[in-house]
Amino acid sequence: MKVALSKGMAIALFCFGLVSTNPSVAQEKKPTVDRKWWKEAVVYQIYPRSFKDTDGDGVGDLKGIIQKLDYIKSLGIDVVWLNPIYGSPNADNGYDISDYQSIMKEFGTMEDFDALLKGMHERGIKLVMDLVVNHSSDEHKWFQESRKSRDNPYRDYYHWWPAEKGKPAFRPGAFEADGSGWRHDKQTDSYYLHYFSYKQPDLNWENPKLRQEIYSMMNWWFQKGIDGFRMDVIPFIAKDTTFPVITQADLDKNYQGRWDVFMASGPHLHDYLKEMNKEVLSKYDVMALAEGAGMTLKSAHDFVDADRKELDMGYHFEGTNLGYIPGYFKKMNPKWSLVDFKKIYSDWDAVYDQKGWGTIYLGNHDQPRMTSRWGNDAPEFSAVSSKMLTTFLLSMKGTPYYYNGDEIGMVNAKFNKIEDYRDIETIAEYEKVKIAGGDLKQFIEDQKTGGARDNGRTPFQWDSSKNGGFSTAEPWLKVNDNHTTLNAAAQEKDPNSVLNYFRKMTKLRKSNPVLVYGKYTLLDKENPNVYAYTRELDGKKVLVLLNFSAKNAVANTGINLKNAKVLINNYATVSKKATLRPYEALVLELK
Ligand code: NOJ
Repeated sequence: MKVALSKGMAIALFCFGLVSTNPSVAQEKKPTVDRKWWKEAVVYQIYPRSFKDTDGDGVGDLKGIIQKLDYIKSLGIDVVWLNPIYGSPNADNGYDISDYQSIMKEFGTMEDFDALLKGMHERGIKLVMDLVVNHSSDEHKWFQESRKSRDNPYRDYYHWWPAEKGKPAFRPGAFEADGSGWRHDKQTDSYYLHYFSYKQPDLNWENPKLRQEIYSMMNWWFQKGIDGFRMDVIPFIAKDTTFPVITQADLDKNYQGRWDVFMASGPHLHDYLKEMNKEVLSKYDVMALAEGAGMTLKSAHDFVDADRKELDMGYHFEGTNLGYIPGYFKKMNPKWSLVDFKKIYSDWDAVYDQKGWGTIYLGNHDQPRMTSRWGNDAPEFSAVSSKMLTTFLLSMKGTPYYYNGDEIGMVNAKFNKIEDYRDIETIAEYEKVKIAGGDLKQFIEDQKTGGARDNGRTPFQWDSSKNGGFSTAEPWLKVNDNHTTLNAAAQEKDPNSVLNYFRKMTKLRKSNPVLVYGKYTLLDKENPNVYAYTRELDGKKVLVLLNFSAKNAVANTGINLKNAKVLINNYATVSKKATLRPYEALVLELK
């Protein structure tokens, strides 16, 4: 397989003995790592709805992304992952697809898509799309047919339960106020399954015809030239379709007490993924990323080990679930433990030590802003803590997935009223609290720091003008008020801005293969404030020191820093001390 490396990376890998242009040398010195372009890439995630609006309807569009391609290129990223852009009635912002081979009207046309893909490829950027095939929209023609009659040829494209058998066993429906994943449909007096909202009926992967439709759709996109798929809740596609009653005791005994583990990775999952690999993925030089809902340290390898011929990477939820208080909807404990955080990321690193390949992320469209959640969005710490988190993401092993807006340090919107939220999940959770007679004010407060997904979805802050330069019209979701001071235009002018720090970090990672392939070792494990680790590759050793606290904190690594060379530091005045300033990040090459 041909691997397209940046010039800098190719030279650096050559120096580290990983590649050789001389065949005899190559034979003696086998590469120590199985190199792939997607291992060396930095992935930049774009939420198209909030990126840039060019047609004045308050919704981002593909032409907006095209307009910003030079900006995207300037970040030093290699791959763009786009959230769903297909035909959709938008019950869940495109995660409810009514036509897999069209472009959502609000986003533009297929011609716009072709121009976008071309523009990316011309700039050496790869394009990864979102594949949402656990469910479709209820407005997809398959479902419209399926619900018509019990003997419709599309009936078995979905999961139906005839009402005469009684009510089906409980399954959760994530975006429904009553919490139920089954909905009664009058027309055929049957229930259908929907793990998310009733507008997102689950597809029946046991039906080979359905699987073939999906593979041919995937092939169609690959033939258009896309470079991969991020696969939405892919472990959910396989479930026990006898739908047995499952009790809390069953969950506790068999599935770590977690519904998401039970709902995921059902019978035949890996048969389906192998089949998908054979029929689609194996034919192209592309990447496949599993959204690892329900994925565990134990099951991770089943998805990504190369010899299994399934997918390439997965992302887990253990990191982003840390700190939530049980019994509440994504209510964050402000005293979450850094020691636990380090353990999670170290365990996930270890799992791929010998085989497979990991990913690393702190933010995406389902998460609050990383700076508000894991850093500190108070004015005095916002920029520095955001740079510190960027240092973490780009100095860990595993492919970094970096969310748009984080490169300028955007923070949570912290809306004060439910009317400002647009997200189906937050609205459903609010309804649940209302039905239960709970404290609605407290719920709104909790969303400001916790999980409300709209915190991460507010429009991109391009400049200080009205609507942050995102749109000339009223945006679909309010722009954060702080766009007057926190925006890309202002940061372009400042060499020490969060934005320019991100660019330096992507460059650093590109020019130091040790940051991509080097062995990770956690140091000073019990330190409650500092995350310290080394990365090592072929004699080169880098030390990363990150202060996750608002106070000075000492890194007890036992390493003498005297001869170390500073590769990057997130303060204007560089220091090389084991005592780190608040949210300081220091990357050192050890001599
Ligand atoms: C995960 C996606 O990231 C999220 O945004 C969506 O709501 C659910 N899957 C359902 O598709």
